[in-house]
Amino acid sequence: MTATQNKVIPEVQTFLNTPIPLFINGDWHTPKDKATFIAENPATGNSLATVYEAKENEVNMAVDAAERAFHDSEWSRMSAYDRSKLMFRLADLMERDFEIIAQLDSLDNGKPVDEVRESDLPNAIENLRYFAGWTTKLTGQTIPIDTEFFNYTRHEPVGVVGQIIPWNFPIMMGLWKIAPAIATGCTVVLKPAEQTPVSALYLGKLIKESGFPDGVINIINGFGKEAGHYLVNHQKVNKIAFTGSTATGQQIMKQAADTMKRVTLELGGKSPNIILEDADLEKAVPGVFNGIMVNQGEVCCAGSRVFIPEKIFDQVVKKLKNFADNTVLGMGIEEGTTMGPLVSQKQYDTVTAYIEKGLNEGATMVTGGTKDGEGYFVKPTIFTDVNKEMSIVKEEIFGPVAVLIPYSEVDEVVDMANDTEYGLAAGVWTQNLKNAHIVANKLKAGTVWINCYNLTNAATPFGGYKQSGFGREMGSYALENYTEVKSVWVNLD
Ligand code: NAI
Ligand code: MG
Repeated sequence: MTATQNKVIPEVQTFLNTPIPLFINGDWHTPKDKATFIAENPATGNSLATVYEAKENEVNMAVDAAERAFHDSEWSRMSAYDRSKLMFRLADLMERDFEIIAQLDSLDNGKPVDEVRESDLPNAIENLRYFAGWTTKLTGQTIPIDTEFFNYTRHEPVGVVGQIIPWNFPIMMGLWKIAPAIATGCTVVLKPAEQTPVSALYLGKLIKESGFPDGVINIINGFGKEAGHYLVNHQKVNKIAFTGSTATGQQIMKQAADTMKRVTLELGGKSPNIILEDADLEKAVPGVFNGIMVNQGEVCCAGSRVFIPEKIFDQVVKKLKNFADNTVLGMGIEEGTTMGPLVSQKQYDTVTAYIEKGLNEGATMVTGGTKDGEGYFVKPTIFTDVNKEMSIVKEEIFGPVAVLIPYSEVDEVVDMANDTEYGLAAGVWTQNLKNAHIVANKLKAGTVWINCYNLTNAATPFGGYKQSGFGREMGSYALENYTEVKSVWVNLD
């Protein structure tokens, strides 16, 4: 028995032991062609579970089920209050099975189980409860025209929603997507990432137990080019919500044009994290370190470009190196691990190729590189002596790799920070309130964190400027992604 298996609770092992079917129309479904794929444990490269694969036929079945549920079902006739009760029940069941879900995500993605326990899963549950509260508050407007006409608006659900999510926060991404959609009365076909398929299917089990009507939430595992492609192209899907790479987002947006689907995209980033001269380094250095290294750097808003005043550059580099060298790499499921493996061989190859490229382009690697042994481990990697033409400075690496860039003036650093095709997030570390707000206002990013980083909350919007996408997840803003506004005129004459 391996060390990993020792830690795994029996419910998790039982769930993983038999091939996991798809969740369609409120039931477990084995595809017609019985196609399967392997969910891998990236700490070992071994198989974690066998998962059934959805192809065109299963996408059609799931969309049909979602369409029936949307147009003519208990769900379409359900009061907003009853909808919220179902959502609260699902949140309660997720809390009941908290440890099972935490372990599934840690095993499948590689991330430290404590991060799922402390962040991903509480955040996922919080989203369900936050949006459950919105079901009864989706009010429109009454608009004064003149005495002969009365006009009002209704915020109606957009219909069947296809949701395609990535592998970096499997359960959390799932609930960021599902919660606002069902709060508005939409129905959902969710396609998790092929690298991390298992926790969403466990969620399917809890959806069934909560008593959601059949077809309201369907979960189909499969690959982007097959299941994802058919979902994006399906006539009956009214909207696609996507999180993932900018390249795939661009492709989805083009394809969605054919059926005029509503599209929201949460894409990549190359976010700046700026230390100002008067920052409290005791807080700024660990904040900046975690800003890039948490979740193995596989975070869309990771603060991968760190800007440091020239005067304190060497001092900060030394402190960051110290944090890097004290990182505990290991299996996510082992207590005490602070950094797990990257999610897959492909991601490992991408990240290590960038490290190689950085070295070839002349950057200095202060610390980092790969780790010997099994699994897709990359150590926290820090580069200095970089310039803005280098690919490690311009492109999203999506791994634990930071580039440290010195600057002299505040105005100059704002321009440097904004000199990117992305605009997802940014951080500023300072004890000067005035500078904090001046810089925050000038940064072209959907989120700016002042003296903190990577914080999200169900009540606050999250999303990108520029090539980081459009639309906002969470907060009241997310409801707009899932509603159409109908204007109703009444002639009182
Ligand atoms: P990806 O964007 O290709 O995959 C994300 C999701 O989209 C997965 O569920 C995948 O199955 C699906 N997908 C892929 N191609 C599709 C298509 N043609 N039609 C419909 N769905 C499709 O990202 P991938 O390959 O996993 O990672 C590549 C890079 O993307 C990473 O190195 C990273 O830079 C970036 N990325 C960014 C994320 C973010 O949160 N913004 C998350 C994951 C990856
Ligand atoms: Mg996996």
